[in-house]
Amino acid sequence: MASVRGVARASQTPPTEGGVSVRGLSKTYALSGQPLPVLQEITFDVQPGEFVSFVGPSGSGKSTLLNILAGLEEPDRGVVTAGGSARRLGGVAYMPQRDVLLPWRSALENAILGLEVKGVPRHESRQWARELFAVAGLGGFEDSLPSVLSGGMRQRVAFLRTVLTPGSVMLLDEPFGALDALTRSEMHEWLLGLWEHGDVMYNVSTTVVLVTHDVEEALLLSDRVYVLSPRPGRIRLVHEVSLPRPRTPALTTTEEFVRSKAALLAAVRGEGA
Ligand SMILES: Nc1ncnc2c1ncn2[C@@H]1O[C@H](COP(=O)(O)OP(=O)(O)OP(=O)(O)O)[C@@H](O)[C@H]1O
Ligand SMILES: [Mg+2]
Repeated sequence: MASVRGVARASQTPPTEGGVSVRGLSKTYALSGQPLPVLQEITFDVQPGEFVSFVGPSGSGKSTLLNILAGLEEPDRGVVTAGGSARRLGGVAYMPQRDVLLPWRSALENAILGLEVKGVPRHESRQWARELFAVAGLGGFEDSLPSVLSGGMRQRVAFLRTVLTPGSVMLLDEPFGALDALTRSEMHEWLLGLWEHGDVMYNVSTTVVLVTHDVEEALLLSDRVYVLSPRPGRIRLVHEVSLPRPRTPALTTTEEFVRSKAALLAAVRGEGA
């Protein structure tokens, strides 16, 4: 894929700084009138510019955690800040698990939504988006409505919208789940390129919190991987990834990668817990 380095540099908007801090977060929903504890005593920090991932079984509260980090939900207990603010909403770029594209807007118009909200001139945001569409293999589909795109294409549009949304923290919930292995690998490479060069739109250094079912994806991309237990989700394992950067797909066959992957899979399965 072509490099998009420099695309973001032209902005006049100053970068917003900030990582993520979570202290004693607990969340309980109600199911048929009964309490349903979903997250329990979650505490972690993500320093500005770090890339961390959360893996865990279905229903362990991963999307709930991101909704809380995004400021769309509040915890029952605990203190959460993201992007340097306890308010969170508007300070983070969030790609939810479902692509939630606006059906009446073209793919390109969907992608520039975050820029539009921040008041970036249309011709400028459309130009950036066009460049990214080409990089993400979506060239030619700028004016298509979401209904005529494949699931993987819609997911890439939603991902571009997130990359194009100004904010110092990027929250990604299964961003590549609908992609075939080759496209997924290309998107990994591209995301790593953007992140390692600090070129994710306005951000000099972007903090990323990724949720994924894919342990390999988590290892390849992250500085640190958190494994959640089954519901109610607690942090079962914190795994520091010491693989060198820049990361390349070739790393996945190294002894260290294979050993780390086995440890993470065992933790996801609850072995040794
Ligand atoms: N708004 C809500 N009201 C009630 N229950 C909810 C709500 N949102 C999530 N839940 C419940 O909370 C639990 C955790 O859901 P969540 O979507 O966070 O899991 P997840 O780890 O993201 O799962 P998956 O890997 O399948 O995406 C589930 O049992 C779900 O039914
Ligand atoms: Mg989820």
